[in-house]
Amino acid sequence: LYAKHEGMNPSGSFKDRGMTVGVSMALQLGMKSVACASTGNTSASLAVYGAKAGIPVIVLLPSGKVALGKVAQALMHGAKVISINGNFDRALEMVRDLCETKGIYLLNSVNPYRLEGQKTIGFEAIDQLNGEVPDRMVLPVGNAGNISAVYKGLIELSELGFVDKMPMMTGIQAEGSQPVVRAIKENLPEVIPEGSPETVATAIRIGAPVNAEKVLHAIRMSKGTADFVTDEEILAMQRDLAQKEGIGVEPASAASVAGVKKLVEAGVIDRDERIVCVVTGHLLKDPETVIKQCAPPIECDATLESLLSALQL
Ligand code: F0G
Repeated sequence: LYAKHEGMNPSGSFKDRGMTVGVSMALQLGMKSVACASTGNTSASLAVYGAKAGIPVIVLLPSGKVALGKVAQALMHGAKVISINGNFDRALEMVRDLCETKGIYLLNSVNPYRLEGQKTIGFEAIDQLNGEVPDRMVLPVGNAGNISAVYKGLIELSELGFVDKMPMMTGIQAEGSQPVVRAIKENLPEVIPEGSPETVATAIRIGAPVNAEKVLHAIRMSKGTADFVTDEEILAMQRDLAQKEGIGVEPASAASVAGVKKLVEAGVIDRDERIVCVVTGHLLKDPETVIKQCAPPIECDATLESLLSALQL
């Protein structure tokens, strides 16, 4: 079982893989400004690449539901940050209208160039496994762009004859925000949006994924599956990864590994499978959720005696 840590990217999440391509395309197409709606990471990444490209950035965030580190990044890198009194799905509708009316370049994962960049997660995973294709790739699913992009990349590799098998694409959502899981489990022809998604993993708090059709295709064609995990399972896995493996990720990212645990226990995933979990964003993205789970530092006077007593030594 491997955790591919996307928190190592410049802005601390996998979004950079697509955003560098998306912003480069915006410049090539002569666009004068760029925009996105975001649960946080997309906005942070767009702010970073927009700053370097020297192009104005507008980001729409669901008010009160974006982790602190992500808002800090969007603000510091100079984006115009708008906090919407509505959830991500509404913010996305609004930014689409805005971009259409004002000729602004939309950089959500409806943008095909972003998904082209995100394909590299799959290429790199195979490269890092010395050319071997994992049996399964497990990703947290929100707007469903990433899992669809990785699948597209791997299908292309296979069509070009570089690989001779495909990993089972497996999507994990949070219990309170699981429209894709429902569609897979109930074998629905399409994803039915959820009106009020809710989860501690705010990055994937999305009820109406824009890449719904693509994710159903990716999961079904690769004989993968989808399941949900509870907020408790997500947070427990966030702590386990941090404390047992030294892997610091944000809650949405822990969802993929928590999903593997659940599916192994349910007998859906075989213990012999070689699995790559994509852990999508860094622990520091959401310090508030971290602090809430941990005991505060032990206060101590600046003497050896107090230190020994604090350490109970
Ligand atoms: N993990 C993290 C940390 C994310 O930020 C996201 C999406 C996902 C997983 C899910 O990826 O949407 O391609 O299925 N974040 C978006 C954002 C929605 O605005 O930052 P997806």
